[in-house]
Amino acid sequence: MSSTTFKIAALAGDGIGPEVMRAALQVLRAVEKKFALSFAITEAPVGWAGIDAAGQALPDATLALCRASDAILFGSVGLPDRDPTIPKEQRPERAALLRLRKEFSLFANLRPVQLPKVLAHSCPLRPERQGDGLDLLVVRELTGGMYFGQPKKTEEIPGGHRAIDTMVYTTPEIERIAHVGFQAARLRRKKLTSIDKANVLENGILWRETVTRIGKQYADVTLEHMFVDNAAMQLMLRPTQFDVVLCENMFGDILSDEAAALAGSLGMLPSASLGATSGGVTFGLYEPAGGTAPDIAGKNLANPIAQILSAALMLRYSFQREDAARAIEAAVGKAIADGLRTGDIYNPADATAQKVGTTAMADAIAAAV
Ligand code: IPM
Ligand code: MG
Repeated sequence: MSSTTFKIAALAGDGIGPEVMRAALQVLRAVEKKFALSFAITEAPVGWAGIDAAGQALPDATLALCRASDAILFGSVGLPDRDPTIPKEQRPERAALLRLRKEFSLFANLRPVQLPKVLAHSCPLRPERQGDGLDLLVVRELTGGMYFGQPKKTEEIPGGHRAIDTMVYTTPEIERIAHVGFQAARLRRKKLTSIDKANVLENGILWRETVTRIGKQYADVTLEHMFVDNAAMQLMLRPTQFDVVLCENMFGDILSDEAAALAGSLGMLPSASLGATSGGVTFGLYEPAGGTAPDIAGKNLANPIAQILSAALMLRYSFQREDAARAIEAAVGKAIADGLRTGDIYNPADATAQKVGTTAMADAIAAAV
């Protein structure tokens, strides 16, 4: 097998970002040794780290590095204590993360949620609601809807202010994310639940019509529509009914956190943000769905699994290395099966579980690769 070098921009960011990124890079180095590939990894500051280093949440040099790379491995950005000290347009969430998503047209966000049987205790639901373990995929539209729609502003009015966000979707935007959803369902249990609020929102009506029309091209996939409020409830009552959950941007943001909680911890949820595929190559940004968790940052307490599984998604979707992606996922599975637990997934009642820190979890996963 010929050796390929993949260029990775590693943007660790703030809070627990650097320590979980270190863990993921350690695992990637183990993958390099085992498989015939090599990674040219360049680290660059983003978020508050970017502001401190270069005065911008997304420094020009960091953006240039991303452009020159095959994929972005992203940590997390934003520090609630510091964020209010600068104008909102300059804050890390908007100026770095949302900007990168838009800059690279990363419209498709995949968030696979899995609850392995051995972590059943971490799930807040009663065991009978968990079935044989949970396994669903949230496909979230990532560059449209209320996060980006214009006008978006706060203006003064007599007696206070008026804040305006605009929810806007076009047919092509819905079509392309619908295709991603149906194609993902085809590779899974062939069921797609499309989420909307068609009983109230114009956007919901267009979403439902468009997804229904695209669905005709995927006769092998069962399509079902659900209002977002009902979906939030159904996730709690009967999560095993879901396979692929297709959402617009904000609904996907909310439901993916809810789904992650079902899987035990936000610290277990990876994500892939993908653009269009050109010439068989898909540029993507890979990041844990959780945040910077400043309360536990720098204490070797953070769960690195979401970041490590995000690296696996990078191997799968951007580098087309299913073998290496699976090796990482299997290594994570082994560490968990061996009883290793960071604090967020630790259950003192489980006699076989051993509470470990970020570095010990990373060592075990890297060794298992
Ligand atoms: C996520 C996060 C981001 C989002 C924030 C940090 C802007 O919550 O990736 O889910 O809302 O998209
Ligand atoms: Mg979120």
